[in-house]
Amino acid sequence: MSTTWTDAVVVARYDATPRIAVFDLARADGGELWEYESGAHIDVQVGEAGLVRQYSLCGPPGVREQYRLAVLNEPASRGGSQAMHTLAEGDTLRIGAPRNRFGLTPARHHLLLAGGIGITPLLSMAQTLDATGGDYHLHYCARSRTDAAFVPELEHHPRATLHFDDQEPEQLLDLGRDLGEPAPDTAAYVCGPGGFMDYALGRAAELGWPASALHTERFSASTAATETGGGGEGGFTVRLSSTGAEYLVPEDQSVLDVLLANGVEAPSSCGQGICGECVVRVRVGEPDHRDDVLTDDERAEGLFTPCSSRSRSPILELEL
Ligand code: FES
Repeated sequence: MSTTWTDAVVVARYDATPRIAVFDLARADGGELWEYESGAHIDVQVGEAGLVRQYSLCGPPGVREQYRLAVLNEPASRGGSQAMHTLAEGDTLRIGAPRNRFGLTPARHHLLLAGGIGITPLLSMAQTLDATGGDYHLHYCARSRTDAAFVPELEHHPRATLHFDDQEPEQLLDLGRDLGEPAPDTAAYVCGPGGFMDYALGRAAELGWPASALHTERFSASTAATETGGGGEGGFTVRLSSTGAEYLVPEDQSVLDVLLANGVEAPSSCGQGICGECVVRVRVGEPDHRDDVLTDDERAEGLFTPCSSRSRSPILELEL
């Protein structure tokens, strides 16, 4: 399924921190935006180069007049955040329909763990749980108060605790205390930069949390994915189940690159194995999964991300 786009206009912008800008976007034609549920993200096409990047929606779901995004300016990144930070009120951009692989799951209690800009989808979840009377607690970690967005909204909230790296050790996130051992009917949601994710998920595993109770979203490929991803060690052949066409995937190209170069219609978005837009099913062969989006169950079902993952077998047949 390819992304559906609409033209949008920046109706408000403010700087939540020196590096985080908050944007309210409305449809350029004045119509309503798509419905979404908390945890969703959208594609945004911005800048002269038409860069497409993904940003979580952090406003309250149900408001269809406007979407709210918060964007961290990352000079070392691929340029999307810098292009976003040049936008001012009245500027236009294209946005895609929301997608969601990080929604709230049925549970009696929800623990929301945010690191840095990872607050965005979790803030939306907190708003949904506030509106529906859900039981939750949000832990939000930032380097300092100055680096934290949405402090006015969260610092006196009874269900939120803020943790700042530059303050007293007692107030730092302590997952033994703040996450604890897994409890029945409790779900945890983790979102933030790679180091935060790796720490939180590693500690959760030590505490005995099963993968099925941990829900995650990454903003960039994990260290493990990037260390082994991309180039790969050796080429292989990808075959399309619909036509039997076969294409060689060399070491330095992704399956997705090869499909697109051969005119195969294949949806994609992030190109890093983190959004799920490109997912297809493997019919034959042994995938070498190098994504941060599929669950173990989804991998066992045969799902595969051609933008980042490769093949352990000489031939990989895809349901395409
Ligand atoms: S394009 Fe995002 S996971 Fe493949």
